[in-house]
Amino acid sequence: MTQTAVFDLTSWSSQHLATVERSLDRWVEPEAPAGLGDAMRYAVLDGGKRLRPLLVLAACEAVQGNAGAALRAACAVELIHAYSLVHDDMPCMDDDVLRRGKPTVHVQFGPAMALLAGDALQALAFELLVPDDGSVPDGMAARLCRLLACAAGSQGMAGGQAIDLASVGCALSRDQLQTMHRLKTGALLQASVLMGAACAPVQASVQSALADYGAALGLAFQVVDDILDVTADSATLGKTAGKDAANDKPTYVSLLGLEPARVYAQELLDQALQALQRSGLTQTHSLVALADMVVNREK
Ligand code: IPE
Ligand code: IPE
Ligand code: MG
Ligand code: MG
Ligand code: MG
Repeated sequence: MTQTAVFDLTSWSSQHLATVERSLDRWVEPEAPAGLGDAMRYAVLDGGKRLRPLLVLAACEAVQGNAGAALRAACAVELIHAYSLVHDDMPCMDDDVLRRGKPTVHVQFGPAMALLAGDALQALAFELLVPDDGSVPDGMAARLCRLLACAAGSQGMAGGQAIDLASVGCALSRDQLQTMHRLKTGALLQASVLMGAACAPVQASVQSALADYGAALGLAFQVVDDILDVTADSATLGKTAGKDAANDKPTYVSLLGLEPARVYAQELLDQALQALQRSGLTQTHSLVALADMVVNREK
């Protein structure tokens, strides 16, 4: 029997999701000037699969790390993700009106407030990683900040988003598309895994195997996002389906076709699972199940 067959992801997730929701609700405070707190909370709370927080917590579990630090890291990475979605949806980027089943932040609060909510969420993410109560050891906090900063910045999400915008209407090569996807989406997912692992002292070989797991899973995630944009409907996705073709974005579906894109996502799942085996870690049930969920999800 495979590990996935005996592991109940739904029950594992429901406990962790409850903790993440409670923590986000507490840490993203409504008290901010001129309604900024309301826009921030609207962007973060009540929606989203919370895949990145779950990956942080699963990786921390695999290395038996500091659970308090991991919860902060889980929320921090979700805040960066939420900010990236707010900006991604703005008229100057993908121009989307629906996100997580609700009007997008700029539709609800206006573009200037959406910009500021994104800015403030990004700052809050780093604030969470350096609490002044000593609950995250200094060295660990510094490493968590570095991992998140690198994944969010010009060599990660923001850089990938720049390539995305510059690629509208372009026929990218497979290598170029892979680079774009690895940066705009893969980097933050890989960082989620590495941040979970950074909550314990981990051997270099384990870290490198987890980095490979995160890279394969991160790329697979965006390949599946491209597929779902074509195959799922807006009600299921909670965001506007068919947006990539409408915006003339190069995707794995436009480059390879639907079926080869599906095959590629399964290949990436195999790569992720092989990397986990290479890690030599034994408590990997949740990481295995999350990889499976990423590739076989319907929304
Ligand atoms: C959507 O991410 C944006 C991409 C990076 C492709 P998710 O599919 O994880 O969005 P939520 O968090 O569940 O809303
Ligand atoms: C978004 O990619 C990646 C981000 C960094 C937000 P997409 O533009 O494909 O994400 P969706 O489909 O709007 O969620
Ligand atoms: Mg986009
Ligand atoms: Mg988009
Ligand atoms: Mg998409």
